[in-house]
Amino acid sequence: MTDSMAAGGDLAALQAETEAQLAAAADMRAWDAVRVGVLGRSGSLTGLLKGLGQVPAEQRKDRGAALNRLKGALEAAIEARRVVLEEAALDARLRAERLDVTLPPRPFPPGGPGDGGIHPISRTIEELTALFGAMGFAVAEGPDIEGDWYNFGALNIPDHHPARQDHDTFYVPAPPGGDGRRPVLRTHTSPVQIRTMIGQEPPIRVIVPGRTWRADHDATHSPMFHQVEGLVIDRDITLGHLKGCLIDFLRAFFGISDLPVRFRASYFPFTEPSMEVDIGWNRKTGELGKGGDWLEILGSGMVHPKVLANCGLDPRVWQGFAFGMGIERITMLKHGMADLRPFYEADVRWLRHYAADPLSPPSLAEGV
Ligand code: PHE
Repeated sequence: MTDSMAAGGDLAALQAETEAQLAAAADMRAWDAVRVGVLGRSGSLTGLLKGLGQVPAEQRKDRGAALNRLKGALEAAIEARRVVLEEAALDARLRAERLDVTLPPRPFPPGGPGDGGIHPISRTIEELTALFGAMGFAVAEGPDIEGDWYNFGALNIPDHHPARQDHDTFYVPAPPGGDGRRPVLRTHTSPVQIRTMIGQEPPIRVIVPGRTWRADHDATHSPMFHQVEGLVIDRDITLGHLKGCLIDFLRAFFGISDLPVRFRASYFPFTEPSMEVDIGWNRKTGELGKGGDWLEILGSGMVHPKVLANCGLDPRVWQGFAFGMGIERITMLKHGMADLRPFYEADVRWLRHYAADPLSPPSLAEGV
């Protein structure tokens, strides 16, 4: 045994040499070679540990302790280098496999003009879903062909009620074995209020976009059109909630933060009190938001206690509001369309002009 060995100088040298080798090891393979060279079966440190038996007895204890310290230090250094190399390898892999989601989408429409876009009615439904979704509303649906009770009776519109005349609609033959009443193509989305209140425990917050039917046909009426219904039922819903909800919705939908909104007393059999909602516009130019004129845009009100009772809800416990509006109408106003008929005429020039980009769904962050 040399003097330097006795003083542990060989150990210090081995530690320095191993640390230098580790620092130079640029990948896991080089790192493993260093590890095996030190700690492996014929590694340098293993050799020193095996040689402990030959050390004179009076030095063996100190030498053993020094070797153990060195072993601990080298194992820690090797492990630390492993962590550094593995992190670097992961970083390199993430860089190499990076997916650049910021790449611009393919130009709209995909592959050139005419390859397809979102119909403006569908687009408005997407926007309604996003806007009311942000206010906690779910989307509910119901059948296009409705029973008389769902479309009229449960909504407090009895037989011979004049409201039935405003809802002049299409009937299908009464099915055998029923009550003899003819099912109707639903005249509004309000029957889905009934279905929702019957089928679901309050609290309820839904919107119901869907197809509706009335026997009407001119520049602003079509026998088939679309409505969106809204229904909120809870223990302490007030007219204030109705107003706040609809003002927020109308301002967001039309993108006019100070859009004037007016609530005007009205009548619907299924709400009490009932209100028409008007927005400010300029009758001459058609511009929304200013001009001093008012335009009726939707119907609303507090759900009539009889309607709640018809659905098995105790009106002393539950109350809420409902509203309904025409999807074509708000779409035409938003985009300055004069005639409703092109919505259904499949004129490719019109569709190209008004279609929305399918790769750019409505986003609340951008404002819809
Ligand atoms: N269902 C009514 C209509 O079609 C609209 C409405 C819905 C009014 C809900 C008030 C409450 O005319």
